[in-house]
Amino acid sequence: MKNLYINQILSIFLLSSFFIGCGDSSSDEKTNENENIKKSEKSEKVLFKTRADLGEALFFDKNLSKNRTQACATCHDSKQAFVDKRNNSLMLELKQAVSLGDDNKSIGNRNTPTINYASLTPSFKYSSSDAIGGMFHDGRAKDLKEQAGMPLLNPVEMNMSSKNEVISRIKENENYIKSFEKIFSKNIFNNDEDAYEALTIALASFERTKIFNSFDSKYDLYLEGKYELNEKERRGRDLFFSNEKTNCASCHLINNSLTLNTKETFTSYKYFNIGIPKNILVHNKRVVLGLENEDAIDNGLFENKDILVDDQKGKFKVPTLRNIAITSPYMHNGVFQKLDTVLKFYEFTRDNNLYKINPETNKVWEKAEVEENIDNVHLLSGKELDQEKINALITFLKLLTDKQYEHLLEGKK
Ligand code: HEC
Ligand code: HEC
Repeated sequence: MKNLYINQILSIFLLSSFFIGCGDSSSDEKTNENENIKKSEKSEKVLFKTRADLGEALFFDKNLSKNRTQACATCHDSKQAFVDKRNNSLMLELKQAVSLGDDNKSIGNRNTPTINYASLTPSFKYSSSDAIGGMFHDGRAKDLKEQAGMPLLNPVEMNMSSKNEVISRIKENENYIKSFEKIFSKNIFNNDEDAYEALTIALASFERTKIFNSFDSKYDLYLEGKYELNEKERRGRDLFFSNEKTNCASCHLINNSLTLNTKETFTSYKYFNIGIPKNILVHNKRVVLGLENEDAIDNGLFENKDILVDDQKGKFKVPTLRNIAITSPYMHNGVFQKLDTVLKFYEFTRDNNLYKINPETNKVWEKAEVEENIDNVHLLSGKELDQEKINALITFLKLLTDKQYEHLLEGKK
């Protein structure tokens, strides 16, 4: 009884210092590494009151991976708009296109997307040849909750062997046990399936919190009348929100109404094949590592087990453009490094003679990995863009950077 009392005092004390620490954006946590350690220390001391607080601790906890080297936050870095900018040698060799796993040698085949604003994605739906929403580049997880259970058991990611193994890691931490029982139910650990589901609910709850969904970019301020666009930003906006001048709006707005809506996420959540070339660097490395065959092809939506028709091959989910200026490299396989290249690629697909060469390789553009089903309606609309217009569009895209990441824009072209 006495111990319990002391524990309670201790946790109230630590909880209040946690809140003070949390509100201090100028804290001296220099690196993500330090931050991860701090957050997981916290997980042993603080009794969590809400699903989201518990989810936050789990998101930063490396104990949930086989060798205890990797948390969700390792690949989704909270300081980098939740993408993976790790500088380990393998990732640098592959130009950070894909992520390294907990075994310190495996790599995935897809670029780690931002998870800012991911919680606003509708659940996956497929009807009459049209897919919309869902998690991952191919929508194979219905929603955030289903998604959250997958990286833990993925051999090239956190690499845990079973739900049971994950739950036994949770149970190593007395504080998690108490928190799970308090937040979910006293019997939550009676069965691993229930406990695992609770873990995914907590992670998804954290991903719905403000830090992921701040809507405080200059663009949002502009909509609220609190920021005035300069001349170039205005030109970029006009280009983006026009079906005559560009084609962006037909795929990168929630509804193709061309109105400047608040809380716009800059994606229709639909799926298209836009003809992205294979990332040869990543493919070759995965072949050497025995992770894929010589003839492996990423069919996107067609890899989703619910989709069995060939006309969906090569389609990928339209990603959000929020924080896009700081989340390079681009596309599902990270094949392009710069926004300038992305925009020139769109021009190339529309036969704009100005851009026959990929500026990153100085060679003609590589052919599409999947040549069937390339969209020939939306991609072809709009007028051809010259360099000046491309620059204006990039200036507009930079406005979509959340306030917490604005400092990362310095020096970005
Ligand atoms: C090894 C790196 C790595 C780790 C660890 C990792 N992820 Fe990811 N995450 C990725 C990659 C790569 C994708 C895209 C994969 C795909 O489309 O097939 C992704 C996709 C996602 C998405 C989908 C976003 C969208 O808009 O489609 C969410 C949400 C997400 N991860 C959350 C998590 C959570 C929660 C954890 C921890 C339980 C986690 N990730 C651990 C690399 C990682
Ligand atoms: C046919 C629909 C379509 C049109 C039109 C379109 N996009 Fe996209 N966009 C996509 C899809 C789909 C992807 C993801 C492809 C992939 O990952 O393979 C994408 C990816 C991107 C990316 C990279 C995102 C990331 O996180 O990797 C940027 C930047 C982008 N588009 C900007 C634009 C701009 C600016 C325009 C107008 C000039 C435009 N797009 C027109 C569908 C479209």
